[in-house]
Amino acid sequence: MSEDPRAGESSSDPAPSEPARPGVRTDGGAAGADDVALDPWGSATIDDYRKLFEQFGIEEFEEVLPEVPNPHYLMRRGVIFGHRDYRPVADALREGEDAAVLSGFMPTGDPHVGHKMVFDEIIWHQQQGADAYGLIADLEAHAARGLSWDEIDEHTESYLLSLLALGFDPEDGEIYRQSGNREVQDLAFELGTKANFSELQAIYDFDGETNVSYMQSVVTQMADILYPQLDEPKPTVIPVGPDQDPHMRLARDLAARMRFFKVTEAYFSQELEPAELELLGRIVDSGSVSPEDHDDETLRCVHVARFVDALRAGETGSEIEAPPAVLDSLFGKLDEAGMEPIRPRVRFFDRNATEEAFEAIIEAVEGEKRVFEGHVDAFDLSLAEAEELAREIEVDHGGYGFYPPSSIYHRFMTGLTGGKMSSSVPASHISLLDDPEAGYEKVKAATTGGRETAELQRELGGEADECPVYELYAYLLSGDDDEFAKRVYEECVGGERLCGDCKEQAAELMREFLADHQEKREEARELLEGLDLEIETPRR
Ligand code: TRP
Ligand code: SF4
Repeated sequence: MSEDPRAGESSSDPAPSEPARPGVRTDGGAAGADDVALDPWGSATIDDYRKLFEQFGIEEFEEVLPEVPNPHYLMRRGVIFGHRDYRPVADALREGEDAAVLSGFMPTGDPHVGHKMVFDEIIWHQQQGADAYGLIADLEAHAARGLSWDEIDEHTESYLLSLLALGFDPEDGEIYRQSGNREVQDLAFELGTKANFSELQAIYDFDGETNVSYMQSVVTQMADILYPQLDEPKPTVIPVGPDQDPHMRLARDLAARMRFFKVTEAYFSQELEPAELELLGRIVDSGSVSPEDHDDETLRCVHVARFVDALRAGETGSEIEAPPAVLDSLFGKLDEAGMEPIRPRVRFFDRNATEEAFEAIIEAVEGEKRVFEGHVDAFDLSLAEAEELAREIEVDHGGYGFYPPSSIYHRFMTGLTGGKMSSSVPASHISLLDDPEAGYEKVKAATTGGRETAELQRELGGEADECPVYELYAYLLSGDDDEFAKRVYEECVGGERLCGDCKEQAAELMREFLADHQEKREEARELLEGLDLEIETPRR
């Protein structure tokens, strides 16, 4: 098997004194795999990932796909299956407006074919016009994985060579190490003021034994994610594996917590919780409530309160439903507001605004407005206009004005030996440093979705959806050629393709890919040396 002297290194992912972190792996999100059934042209509704949609609010990528200009093959094939709030990025790419892409890699081992997907995602966004960032999460590797700085340096170089070899343009984009980026560390410190221990504990299962630098590496990642917006706020996408989603949710929260203003829709003076606001919106939009006085056409809080009360009692015959607790609390607030009119408006709620910024918002709102203690209501602005205005004023007054960062999620590759692809099992994955011959052999030795006998295979067809070799075709070996990937799939499930030949073809393609990639890595050395980045850290 693999004679590559470097192959052993990838089996050394140590995890000394690492606190358990269920649900969050720290291997780039590109490594390990769930057992994923692959559907060739990717309806993204795959059962294995369904709970991500339902429980965590990740949305199906398929649904934004039509808005993406010139989509990457990983998008077209459903390998990128989910997203959070990707639409603003897609819009910006389409309209030629500012956008950014950033992802990070823990230098814990050799880069492998799983990381290649993320490299490709960064590079594709760069080619579509986004500002592109690739970072080495060396602080995280040191604090969370206990890697020595020597090991980190060696892997750092290797990741970067592959990123460059695959086409990242460092003139136009930025590559950095967490340890060498003072701005990131300063931003991490600021963001840390908005997060507390209980929260990290809840998200990451940290406990009293978790080392402090580990926690620092979390806020560092938050800073990485927002770093592209330091000069100027812009839609930013973070391509990662779904295991990184907890980081995304925290980053989106922190981005919002840093904002000067929270802009929401509102209907009357009281502050509503999101669920109450949503319910009230549905009630008002449904037109189910009408003013009750004949001589006054004004819809008032009491009127809606009565309707909510009737909803609670199930007396309206209306389709509107909500949890009892939400009905109760909304009723209370409406009832208290009494005769106050219900009027849709947008609200600038003061979160962290300076006094000057608050004054400036009041000044800048056009049309009818009302100023309250901690908020300003505007009656003639749309939500989008209000958000833009809030960001503009914030930036003018020294704030960041962050957009909540977006994310896209790719499926994990199945291991070549079945089960998970693991950096600690060399035969399960193909390292980008594997000797081309070794890569060839690994593919030849891979498990397949084939049937017991050639006869059965001809009769029933192979199970491409269960086949790690087919995944190699779809995720990597077919490149941009959809027709080719589709042909492999159809020939397989149609019983025309037998595993021996199929693997031979895949193995040859893999050998070619590795040889070519490694040649490009060598060519990239010069580029790497030209970068303003220390490959040998002075740290110890
Ligand atoms: N935590 C990521 C990992 O486990 C690495 C990482 C650090 C990262 N900073 C990031 C990923 C910013 C995406 C964006 O590999
Ligand atoms: Fe997999 Fe190819 Fe066999 Fe189909 S023919 S099961 S794709 S190895």
